[in-house]
This record gives sequence, structure tokens and C-alpha cells, in this order.
Amino acid sequence: MSHNTIAINQQMDTFDGHHSVWLFGYGSLIFKADFPFIERRAASIRNWSRRFWQGSHDHRGTETAPGRVVTLVQDAGAECYGMAYLITPEVFTHLDHREKNGYLRLATDIFFEDGDSALGLVYIATEDNEAFLGAATELDIALHIARASGPSGHNRDYLFDLADALRELGKDDAHVFTIEQHLRQLPST
Ligand code: SIN
Repeated sequence: MSHNTIAINQQMDTFDGHHSVWLFGYGSLIFKADFPFIERRAASIRNWSRRFWQGSHDHRGTETAPGRVVTLVQDAGAECYGMAYLITPEVFTHLDHREKNGYLRLATDIFFEDGDSALGLVYIATEDNEAFLGAATELDIALHIARASGPSGHNRDYLFDLADALRELGKDDAHVFTIEQHLRQLPST
């Protein structure tokens, strides 16, 4: 089942009155910036790890055959690399809709490559959302991704685009790259 988080996210008031807000992207928000932004900078957030543990019913799968996309799980001492965008508050209408399948806005410190930091936002799908699928081996995740597809395209393209984007950033992510390796060895991909 999908779980629509739009109403909850619209109640978030942490950045009320701000003319611009930093958004941290770690999944499709790295490689698919389909929204206007003022500035974009490579960045990271701390104590979170990226995992293909979230179900996708609306983008890379369907209600009956969800795909697998990334969320973040708490991981003390870890650093998750991605892309930060400086956006105006109006953009959240689009983002809340795009991330509606279980993702909630969370305020977080964002660390830029040059050593600067800022308080900003990240969309996280926690394990209590209805679309959460949870842990599986990288091979099982690859097998799942290989057969999933939805309105935004094949699930495997989400994985490949994310892996390419991380390579462009010069960042390693063993979880993502191991799934990619399995996926490239499967016959249909
Ligand atoms: C993100 O990219 O920051 C959130 C997860 C996604 O939309 O893929």
C-alpha cells in the first residue's frame, strides 16, 4: 500500500519566513532535478546511510508490484554524499508531490565540500511508513529491481542513473555499487 505524506509535509514550519532553503538529495534528487534551483552544490549529511529499502508504487513500480528506491537509515558515524540545492519555498509543492509515497521532510545539517555547512531539509522514508520494504541482500534487491517498472520508467534505470551520478561526484557507495554489479550480470539488463 502507498502512503501519501503530502498533508504532513505541508504542516512543517521550520523554515517559515525563509526566502530560500537548502534541500539535500541522495537518490533521484541527485540525477533528476526537475525543479528550479538557485544554486547546486555537492554535499553530505552525517549519521545516515543510503539503502534501497523503500517501496515505490508511484514512480518505479505499481500498487501491486512496487519497485525499490532509496531512503536513509540511521547509521552513527556514516556520511551520505549527494547534491544540495538552494530552492525557494514554492518548490516544496512540487517536491511534496514527487516524494509523497512515504517520505517526510526532516531538518538536518548539510555539509558542503568546501567545509561550509547550513541547516536544510532532506526527504526520508522511515521504517514506519506503509511503503517501507526493509532490508534484503544486495542480490535480492537486484533481482527485485530487475523486474520492476512504473510511470517514471524502469526501476533498473533509477539504480543505474544513481550509480552514474555518484561516480560523477567521485563518491563510493558499496551498497549501490554492489546492487549495480549484480544487476549488470542479470540476463534482461
Ligand atoms: C532523494 O533523492 O533525496 C529522495 C529519494 C528519491 O526521490 O529518490
